[in-house]
Amino acid sequence: MDRGQFVYKLIACISIIFILYALVYNFVIDPGAETFLSHKVDLVRELKPQIWLPVMYVHVGFACVAMASGLINFSSRIYEKHRRFHRLNGYVYVSSVLFVVLTSGYMAPYATGGKINSMGFNLLNILWLLITVTALVHIFKKQIQKHRRWMIQSYAFCFTNMLIHLFTFVFHQVFGIAYVTSYTIGLYSSIALLLIVPQVLLRALKPIGIDPDKGEKRRPVL
Ligand code: HEM
Repeated sequence: MDRGQFVYKLIACISIIFILYALVYNFVIDPGAETFLSHKVDLVRELKPQIWLPVMYVHVGFACVAMASGLINFSSRIYEKHRRFHRLNGYVYVSSVLFVVLTSGYMAPYATGGKINSMGFNLLNILWLLITVTALVHIFKKQIQKHRRWMIQSYAFCFTNMLIHLFTFVFHQVFGIAYVTSYTIGLYSSIALLLIVPQVLLRALKPIGIDPDKGEKRRPVL
């Protein structure tokens, strides 16, 4: 197993576990998002749960579809043997990203922690949309390697929620910092990681990849 395959399998395990966790937690364990909403104090806008909750369900549903479809499309076996499926599934991914961004746009003004976090989420929205559209433009121009790189960068954003909650947990439960402050630190630390980690990963995997945009044949890695 080469480095690319190892990284793919590791990301696949994390993604599958997180998809199951997100679905079970948000639709079965806490469908009213009571724990999360209990931290929303001093909101400038009044949050209407009868609208916010259904939007959140759509958000989580499409976020999970984006995570699953993105993961499938990074499989070199599927890419090589089922090009048509790769293309169709790619459109499923892009449409899901659009739905997640749209629903996120609705929820951002009510973000826990107020304006500073609303800004962070809006920044995420803009970045994710721009990066995903860039990946799409590259494949329309048949620039496979560039498409792959931008898709790896785009896919990283599927881990936003997981990272925010991981950071918030560490700062709040381990270091004893107030929940809302931990959430803000978590949000901005996640944005930084989501941009840095894919670049580090791409550099680490580069030596085993040959650039097909420059006319060379290559088996997709990750
Ligand atoms: C793809 C994986 C994602 C999943 C599974 C997910 C899931 C969730 C869930 C369950 C919530 C409700 C509160 C909570 O428990 O956190 C939420 C809130 C939210 N998500 Fe996502 N999300 C994902 C990605 C994103 C992305 C990429 C963005 C931004 C581009 C985003 C923006 C938001 C916003 C603005 C809120 C409201 C935050 C608040 O009220 O403080 N999410 N998300």
